[in-house]
Amino acid sequence: MSDSPRLVTCGLPYTNGSCHLGHLRTYVPADMYVRYLRHRGDEVVFICGSDNHGTPIVVSAEAQGTTPAELSQRYHDHFDATFRRMNVRFDHFGMTDGPTNHHRTQSMVTTLEQQGHIYRERIQQSYCPNCQRFLPDRYVRGLCPHCGAEARGDECDQGCGKHLEPGEIREPICTVCNTPAEMREQEHYFFRLSTFAPFLVEYLEGLQGTANARNYAQGWVREGLRDWCITRTLDWGVRYPGRDDLVVYVWVDAPIGYIAFTEEWAAAHGTDWRRYWCGGGSITHFIGGDITYHHCIFWPALLKGAGFGLPTAVVASGMLKVDDHKFSKSRGYVVWTNEDYLDLGLPPDCLRYYLLAHTSHTKELNFSWRAFADRVNNELVNTFGNFVHRALHFAHTRFGGVPPNPPRAEVLEEIRQTVSAIDEAMESYEFKAAVDAVLALASSGNTLIQSNAPWKLIRTDRDAAAGVIADALQIVRALAVLIDPVMPETGRAIWEMLGQPGPIESERLEDCTRPLCPGPIGMPTPLFSRIEEKQVAALEAILAARVADADSRSCEPSPDEPLLSVEDFSRMELVVGRVVLAEPIEKSKKLLRLVVDIGSERRQIVSGIARHYTPEELVGRDVVVIANLAPAVLFGVESRGMILAAGDEASLLVPLRPVPPGTRVR
Ligand code: MF3
Ligand code: ZN
Repeated sequence: MSDSPRLVTCGLPYTNGSCHLGHLRTYVPADMYVRYLRHRGDEVVFICGSDNHGTPIVVSAEAQGTTPAELSQRYHDHFDATFRRMNVRFDHFGMTDGPTNHHRTQSMVTTLEQQGHIYRERIQQSYCPNCQRFLPDRYVRGLCPHCGAEARGDECDQGCGKHLEPGEIREPICTVCNTPAEMREQEHYFFRLSTFAPFLVEYLEGLQGTANARNYAQGWVREGLRDWCITRTLDWGVRYPGRDDLVVYVWVDAPIGYIAFTEEWAAAHGTDWRRYWCGGGSITHFIGGDITYHHCIFWPALLKGAGFGLPTAVVASGMLKVDDHKFSKSRGYVVWTNEDYLDLGLPPDCLRYYLLAHTSHTKELNFSWRAFADRVNNELVNTFGNFVHRALHFAHTRFGGVPPNPPRAEVLEEIRQTVSAIDEAMESYEFKAAVDAVLALASSGNTLIQSNAPWKLIRTDRDAAAGVIADALQIVRALAVLIDPVMPETGRAIWEMLGQPGPIESERLEDCTRPLCPGPIGMPTPLFSRIEEKQVAALEAILAARVADADSRSCEPSPDEPLLSVEDFSRMELVVGRVVLAEPIEKSKKLLRLVVDIGSERRQIVSGIARHYTPEELVGRDVVVIANLAPAVLFGVESRGMILAAGDEASLLVPLRPVPPGTRVR
């Protein structure tokens, strides 16, 4: 137990989209961690809130015909409710657009100015001559100046992942009207991030949390840090002090939300937020690995510059894949927390268990309904649930309650060892290892019952059978407390069936070996139900339908689709053909009937180019034909092949130098 007050936070979700498994991959482990610390006796406050500012939210609101404030409130309420349904229980869930954060952000920026950490500079910024406005962040797209990939205004999301400063993107285009942007000069405010490099080197040295966060951050500092533009030309956001035309960049006021929300919580609980943020306490940030730069570089430098305490640990989760595909809302590889899970009546505990047990926190998690069902069925139903049920059921039917026999020393020792294995795992943020240790104890409970066969033993030696059940119930007692951080509904259900006094939340880990309070045990109800094959198929079908739907709406090639091999290409018989006849097709405005000489034969081809060419201009032209296309009948006319044309105007592909009909295109 540590006596300093602990603050744990989670990255703040943006208020322009619904909660999905990618979010839960960070929030569920954080919640488990907090519940674990509390069972250890630590004083912890668990803080989060919604991130309301930034251009994506303005763009989404515009697209939906609403205001960023309305959109933010709606999604704020959505996240708040969804986290509660998942039993992710924050002590406070604030909003970055709230008055506390506006005030705290302006006050910190003012301090940074007074300390000389901010300067003004005129820079070249993307400007859309058509929309007549500057183009911050998501209002502009173009090419990454570092790697050349397609990028957004503030980050190279498809390529090297680097943060981009205003004005850096190459060949900028306005995302609203697709007009190429111009560069115009504008005054902005810069944070002297580069001067914080020596501080960061030392700070990162001692930063706790997962190694991935620390290692990446150290690499970035070694590469060199540039000063950071912290203002944007936008109406929505926190006003830059003394400027009506600028707001602070969202990545300034969002992390300051952690402080503001602590203030709000502290005010409501009659305590002082400075206990957490002015040194003395400990601060642990749980984040998705993709926002490590912001939390390990920008954020500690801002805090340091403004004279605040620094984060103690940054715990960064690995990314989520869905069925082996990169998580992507637009491609349909997404699992929505409400729609796809909770609303179908699936239990929050099972999803929490899966997310924690499937893979180590910093690794990539490849979600699939199959793997989910296997874990629920094998581990929760067959191992954990089965053991708890057998022990309680036997105690109920044969003894009516907890037998008075003291548990054996070996059993107590095994429980103690499980607790230390969990402590060790949690110390290094290996949540999977902690969950595995609990499951191993359940499995050993099953072995205890199986090898002692108390249902036989009771016929010859009632006291010995009572001893086995007393041992088993002691394990059940430990399992309730140890699994509680992972599956709070399950922990509480076991605790109630065991008839133990007091709320399970106040049980300490070191008390897992405490003797059970004697008392009656009722007929137990099963903890988990199997996920049946039919249901797996139904869940998979929902996902498949979403992917198919996304596919049909997009014409971009998927990065997951295999590339065409030379063999694939050569299967396509592309030849040059000469149009010998062209005529309209009755009742069709779009189609022409062509007869094309392809050397070996004359082909009848129906082509949708009637709006772009008259029959006269086609006769005698050389075109490119796919000769081995499966035949089709259009307006009653058979078509055997297709001629190649490009774009909306159907510009025909023609050979540059004359070649005889039938010449193969290679
Ligand atoms: N909204 C950001 C995201 O989803 C996270 C903000 S975390 C904070 O990527 F530190 F800025 F608050
Ligand atoms: Zn790049």
